[in-house]
Amino acid sequence: MTTISPEVTIGELVAERPSRSRIFEQLGIDYCCGGKKPLSEVCAKKGLDPAMILERLEREAEALLDTGPTPAQMTLSQLAVHIESTHHAYLRNELPRLAKMAQRVAKVHGDKDQRLLMLSATFGVFMHELESHMAKEGHVLFPAIRALEAAETLPSLPFGSVANPIHCMEAEHDGAGEALERMRSLTDGYTPPEWACNTYRALLDGLHELELDMHQHVHKENNVLFPRAKEREMQLTAF
Ligand SMILES: [Fe+2]
Ligand SMILES: [Fe+2]
Repeated sequence: MTTISPEVTIGELVAERPSRSRIFEQLGIDYCCGGKKPLSEVCAKKGLDPAMILERLEREAEALLDTGPTPAQMTLSQLAVHIESTHHAYLRNELPRLAKMAQRVAKVHGDKDQRLLMLSATFGVFMHELESHMAKEGHVLFPAIRALEAAETLPSLPFGSVANPIHCMEAEHDGAGEALERMRSLTDGYTPPEWACNTYRALLDGLHELELDMHQHVHKENNVLFPRAKEREMQLTAF
């Protein structure tokens, strides 16, 4: 069993063993957009004991054995394909479905709870921004990352350094994270009121699942794909 230092970042901990994300989800610790922070700093802020978390990570490590290659073990091209075929494909199906449900619930129950109108509006903007974000990754950034991996000398990219679009994508991830937090708070943590109909309940279920998927998705990009792409560019620059 390896001994984990409290100075390791949350993102590194999840990159090394993805199933640890479940423990961080349960503790309300942000491991995707906030993944660059060391465990010790996050614990101090949340009033948690790092020794307790380290013990839990080590104790549960055996029970949460990950199967298949982790994102950190994939090549950059494999990881980009994996992100597109799982997380982007999931969002393309799920976003329009949830948008329709949010509109319907807002229309039928908005007079009873005005927050449902805000929820539907927030979701609409979130969906629109995320669709444009995925198009930029799929058509511009991921092909550039594949080119960096395949190249033997530094390729000329239309946007200069790969760090430029990565910086934009990370800022957009922060925006998406804020929208998800807003939706969580507008729905009291995805808790349906007693009078909620089935569509309302299914919407909250779907939103909760979306939040979990987005955390995984953003973690794989912010903490694995992007740093490794920048590292690859640095290696090629050194030649
Ligand atoms: Fe993505
Ligand atoms: Fe992204």
